[in-house]
Amino acid sequence: MSRPAVEQDDLTLRFATREDLAAIGDFLPELAGPHYAEQFPGRTAREFLDWKYFRNPAGEAIVGVAAAPGRVVGTVAAVPVRLQLGDEVVTAYNLGDFLTAAEFRNRGLFSRLVDLVCREAEARGAALAYVQPNANSYPILIRRSFREPFRFELRYFPVPSRALARKLGIPAAVTARLRLDAAALRLALPRRDRSVVVEPATAFDARIDRLWEDARRGYRVLVARDRGRLQWRFAECPTPYRILVARRGEEVAGYIVTFANRATGEAHVADLFSRADDRAAAAELLRRSFEELVRGPMRAIFAWTIAAPGPCMIGDLLRGACRLTWSPLHFALRPLGPRTNADLPAGGWYLTDGDFDTI
Ligand SMILES: CC(C)(COP(=O)(O)OP(=O)(O)OC[C@H]1O[C@@H](n2cnc3c(N)ncnc32)[C@H](O)[C@@H]1OP(=O)(O)O)[C@@H](O)C(=O)NCCC(=O)NCCS
Repeated sequence: MSRPAVEQDDLTLRFATREDLAAIGDFLPELAGPHYAEQFPGRTAREFLDWKYFRNPAGEAIVGVAAAPGRVVGTVAAVPVRLQLGDEVVTAYNLGDFLTAAEFRNRGLFSRLVDLVCREAEARGAALAYVQPNANSYPILIRRSFREPFRFELRYFPVPSRALARKLGIPAAVTARLRLDAAALRLALPRRDRSVVVEPATAFDARIDRLWEDARRGYRVLVARDRGRLQWRFAECPTPYRILVARRGEEVAGYIVTFANRATGEAHVADLFSRADDRAAAAELLRRSFEELVRGPMRAIFAWTIAAPGPCMIGDLLRGACRLTWSPLHFALRPLGPRTNADLPAGGWYLTDGDFDTI
């Protein structure tokens, strides 16, 4: 990789190497907040970043840093993914880790790092860069050629016994006796379907590639869910994800990946995948997973859905299970190379939390 260095005062804008991981690991917790370490219990931020930036089978991340003497003061990372775009599979980059140290803000550091990283992604042949930005970075990106084809909705299922216990200020063990949780789950989730067997897993085996090759035809835009990607993203990640796999006979019919944050009591659906028309598999995965998380005990389960018209069976199931909306979430992308927004498929998008770097 070329390593351009751009000097500004005593700052250098360049690409990070493994040598920078400790400094970036010291810097980034400010962005991720007090629960950052929940994503890698028993490991260091450096180990987590080494997994994220350097162990991805899709290639090394492009990590732009603004370096001051002895420390990092700005970061923009781009993690490669293989993305099905219409009939092709292209390379895309998921941007994240946007942080400029407070005393260096409003000098254009972030903007220049985004440009540096996108130029390198383009040089590596990427078709687009995408990100789930917050309210701080979103307007800056939109002024720099990013577009928002739709937003996500962050939706949630509040666990009634815990919500009530909080409200009344009494122990959750007392409200649990009312059996509200089982009733709420029955309302939120489809009936049990015994045609599918759901089991916990700690790894994805070769059968997942058959599911991917079969299921991908039902979607127009989605991150390639081949074995290499799923192993790295969910099985080898330092984050303690819970993986449940659905099968019919020996064939894998789908999987769900969740993350239960013990510090906050919030669980997140990172990924739910099946054939676009296999409602039985997706519904059974969702049901088993929610039952486990409620026993967990979590106080709420969150999921992202795309807030755009267009049929999506999994999106509909998630909306049914997580009926309350917490907040809209921005989504921004920038086509790279010769592609323009007009070349992107209008429908058939499926993107979930786990396709980004938020958990
Ligand atoms: C969001 C964040 C990364 C932006 O970083 P930044 O380095 O201050 O961003 P920039 O300086 O590039 O852009 C800020 C503004 O300064 C302007 N600016 C650009 N060059 C400039 C210069 N040379 N001098 C002064 N201002 C300049 C930019 O134009 C931009 O304004 P605009 O969007 O109206 O054009 C930073 O505010 C931050 O770390 N926030 C907290 C963490 C966070 O929310 N991260 C986002 C997570 S998704």
